[in-house]
Amino acid sequence: MASASVIPADVLLSRRVQEMVINGQEPESLYICRDEEEAKNVPSPLAPIPIIDLSLFSSSTLSATREEELQKLKSALCCWGCFQAIRHEIPSSFLNKIRQVTREFFEQPMEEKKKYSKGVREVEGYGGDPTPEEGQFLDWQDRLFLTVYPEDLSDTKFWPESPKSFRLVLENFTSMMRTVTEVVSKSMAKSLKLEENCFLNQFGERAALQARFNYYPCCERPEIVLGLKPHADGTGYTLILQDDVEGLQVLQGEQWFTVPTIPDALLILMGDQMEIMTNGVFKSPVHRVVSNREKERTSVAVFYTPEKHKEIGPEDGLVNEERPRLFKKIKDYDITHWEYYQRGMRALHIAEI
Ligand code: SIN
Ligand code: FE2
Repeated sequence: MASASVIPADVLLSRRVQEMVINGQEPESLYICRDEEEAKNVPSPLAPIPIIDLSLFSSSTLSATREEELQKLKSALCCWGCFQAIRHEIPSSFLNKIRQVTREFFEQPMEEKKKYSKGVREVEGYGGDPTPEEGQFLDWQDRLFLTVYPEDLSDTKFWPESPKSFRLVLENFTSMMRTVTEVVSKSMAKSLKLEENCFLNQFGERAALQARFNYYPCCERPEIVLGLKPHADGTGYTLILQDDVEGLQVLQGEQWFTVPTIPDALLILMGDQMEIMTNGVFKSPVHRVVSNREKERTSVAVFYTPEKHKEIGPEDGLVNEERPRLFKKIKDYDITHWEYYQRGMRALHIAEI
């Protein structure tokens, strides 16, 4: 495997895998993550990730039904670290609208998209996988990354003006996502018999929402080129809208499982900071995206992260004799996490006691 560091940073910065595919370029060694022989005939069964009906968490639901759904939520997060949320009040027509503007953005000519290109060391904007660490391979993916909340932190120069409806759809999506995070954060607390606002208080009123629009072009060598390298999210948690092409996988033990695509569902996936806040009760799963020879794939991942400079740590109610404190309090975890993500490692031990 060649080291990506032999390619100058400015060349890597202007690379788009979509452009490589259009020009008929095959993935070169920098994108090769594993041995072909090793990768052959390794099945990834569908993951039986629980489907949770968020509407059952409202106070009008019979308390026995609500309690049953809360226990289902807890066991999903202890076992898989994620769940498929349905009946979250975002209409399917609107989910399709987001999928549509995402596709329309990436289908545009390169010159149009490059108006929003990110610069060196910038996270926001349009680009490919940034310069990796020595020896790390590159993702077969292009992305548009935008901070969407708090509004004063979002840099609208990166917000596409085309397709025309992109900005309005994203604004509406952001406010819907804020409602979903409130319901999910409260329900997770209740499922653990904690005060319902405890996680919301740790996240803070100015908890950030950042949207990453992902585009995975078709790939000639899907067995050995990954759309996204294995990693765990450094977020509080992440809300993922998939299209109808499978690709996302979660690791359970030594086995990769494929996350099913469900048209009306949002996949809610725990990040390291929820694992810390729950003192390790909820798992932040390692996941990756595989590439596909025939079908391109798009997705939108919304990262929900505690307010900048806010200290987070295990909830007192989850620390006891049987489960001693596993993590110390920590601030700005996502910044530390970033370096580890680029090396395809986990950063959680930074907070371990
Ligand atoms: C991720 O953000 O880790 C993956 C999102 C996806 O493409 O399914
Ligand atoms: Fe992720």
